Amino acid sequence: MHISICLLPGDGIGPEIVAQTVKVLDAVNARFGHTISTQTALIGGAAIDATGVPLPEATVNACKKADAVLLGAVGGPKWDGIERDIRPERGLLGIRKALGLFANLRPALLFPELASASFLRPDIVARGIHIMVVRELTGGIYFGEPKGFEEREGEQAAFNTMVYRKSEVERIARIGFETAMKRDKRLCNVDKANVLEVSQLWRATVVAMAREYPEVELTHMYVDNAAMQLVRDPSQFDVIVTGNLFGDILSDEAAMLTGSIGMLPSASLGTTSPFLYEPIHGSAPDIAGQDKANPLATILSLAMMFRHSFELETEAVAIEEAVRQVLKAGYRTGDIMEDGGTLVGGEKMGDLVAEKMG
Ligand code: IPM
Ligand code: MG
Repeated sequence: MHISICLLPGDGIGPEIVAQTVKVLDAVNARFGHTISTQTALIGGAAIDATGVPLPEATVNACKKADAVLLGAVGGPKWDGIERDIRPERGLLGIRKALGLFANLRPALLFPELASASFLRPDIVARGIHIMVVRELTGGIYFGEPKGFEEREGEQAAFNTMVYRKSEVERIARIGFETAMKRDKRLCNVDKANVLEVSQLWRATVVAMAREYPEVELTHMYVDNAAMQLVRDPSQFDVIVTGNLFGDILSDEAAMLTGSIGMLPSASLGTTSPFLYEPIHGSAPDIAGQDKANPLATILSLAMMFRHSFELETEAVAIEEAVRQVLKAGYRTGDIMEDGGTLVGGEKMGDLVAEKMG
């Protein structure tokens, strides 16, 4: 079977962590006899520097031709002053939209080896953290029209629109229910239906779909309460389904509970491939180019790619197992360093995981 991956290294630590992940991909190819190939395209600040725009047409075409896309990270202080329509982040939002990637799966799980890295009390952590945030990714206030700046009553004003069509809610709700069916069958819908009309439609749509999934225990939470409950007792959550903005915020919060944002992967899925995989963390410009960045979130994103895009579960598990072995052996990058661990750089971490794959 011939498979091709389009790599979008992007900015900051993006190129380093993608390079480490390619080592692991090579090891998977060797061990399982695949010939998965890669090609690289520009996105974000790197694309702005080379072409003047954060998402060149050539990049969209290269992604569309590939079977899956692996992204590093975009953005950095160098491009902070740039006109807002061509900010690096526009590249990321643009590729999600161009590929129709409406469903963002963000697992927040605690690696037992890293339990002491959590910021929560040990007795709370001991109850376990194994949450899947299912975030709507191509709608809501991020993309709603109208939006813009204007003058209102003699002063500057700015506005965005939070809008969801029923069909947009249905397709993400379905992913939420289906994901719950494969897990602990508990789905928590998060919205702000006590205030927002858009949330009232959202909730009614989720409730209507629940009839198709009698085995799934559906609950609802307002987003402010959900933010609190995540910290109070994260073990109560299995799958969370929510809109674009709430999901952006809650997935960072959920990730931080595990104490290791450098460990968490994500998958952005649509109706047809290619799908996109990227670490949850950003471009970390402060440590870029120093071989300090933890490549494990990107390596685990590759595992998600094998699972969701290629349906090669054995390979996915092998990658996850290799990561676990390296952690068990005590190797740590700076972000997850603890007493008694062996501090290694990103390069070494990539080599170690690739070796374990062999
Ligand atoms: C994320 C990021 C992006 C988002 C930014 C960089 C546009 O925060 O993937 O969560 O808000 O979706
Ligand atoms: Mg975010």
